[in-house]
Amino acid sequence: MSVLSFPERGPWGDAKWRGNCSGYIYKSLFEQLRPKVFVDPMCGSGTSIEVAREMHIEAYGLDLHQGHNILRDSILLAVGKPADLCLSHPPYGDMVVYSGEVWGTPHADDLSRCISEDDFHEKLHIALLNQRDATKPGGYYGTIIGDKRSKGTYVSYQAEAIARMPASELAAVLIKHQHNVMSNSRSYPGMKLPRVSHEFILLWRRPEVITSFLTDLAGMAKQQSARLTSTWKALVRTVLVSLGGQASLSQIYEKVAKNAPERLAANPHWQAKVRQTLNQNQSFFAPIERGVWSLAS
Ligand SMILES: C[S@@+](CC[C@H](N)C(=O)[O-])C[C@H]1O[C@@H](n2cnc3c(N)ncnc32)[C@H](O)[C@@H]1O
Repeated sequence: MSVLSFPERGPWGDAKWRGNCSGYIYKSLFEQLRPKVFVDPMCGSGTSIEVAREMHIEAYGLDLHQGHNILRDSILLAVGKPADLCLSHPPYGDMVVYSGEVWGTPHADDLSRCISEDDFHEKLHIALLNQRDATKPGGYYGTIIGDKRSKGTYVSYQAEAIARMPASELAAVLIKHQHNVMSNSRSYPGMKLPRVSHEFILLWRRPEVITSFLTDLAGMAKQQSARLTSTWKALVRTVLVSLGGQASLSQIYEKVAKNAPERLAANPHWQAKVRQTLNQNQSFFAPIERGVWSLAS
């Protein structure tokens, strides 16, 4: 089943631990994936670990509140052996702040204390790479995460995570119905779109053949750079279409400057990037005369 819905959380973990997850979710995942060694690097009240041990799965729970920081400490070194399944359930959005509220004192690396959405996306990426490193060849790593709508903006944590991780390793995207979430009890006057009442379980599969960390990194960087190249191509093409299919470089620059998403506009060499995009994709763009371009026929 790719849609999971368990209204009860069961006897595992601590029902009072804010943002905890139903133990039935873990039970169902363990039944499907049958891990021998399981690691939860953000185990909170330990729901997943209790379920795993009840099912006779060797399980290791780590958390910042016990001193294991997923942004600084290797999961593999802490556990001492690679896992068949390494699954996290990070805090996201700003619904629950853990350090200083649920436990202990405020901690700068607490994922519930990120200073911006980009800060969170970056840190979750680091956490997932740490999880990947702690997974056996052919094993699964992943995360349970929702999206949020805040002040009219929809922030998709799951889409950002998928975009940052190796596309060839994505194995499954499951939907988890979220019961009794806090936002269910809030009313949003004038809200036309439905409340977010689901989370995602994202699973990636580590390839059977483990390459070196550097090769892995090079592959991931290549994938990101191909995405960026394709984004520039789409952007310049859209600008040219909006200018009637033919335009001078200065018209193209002017329009790009107005329309480029923040991340692209932040590139100080964007004009050179526009020229490079036009020059290197002549099946897309055709030079008409010096400094004038049209859509290729
Ligand atoms: C949503 S809770 C997990 C709840 C758990 N699934 C349960 O059912 O009890 C998220 C956990 O991530 C932990 N956490 C936050 N930042 C962390 C970090 N940098 N390293 C490790 N754990 C972190 C928090 O302490 C919190 O316990």
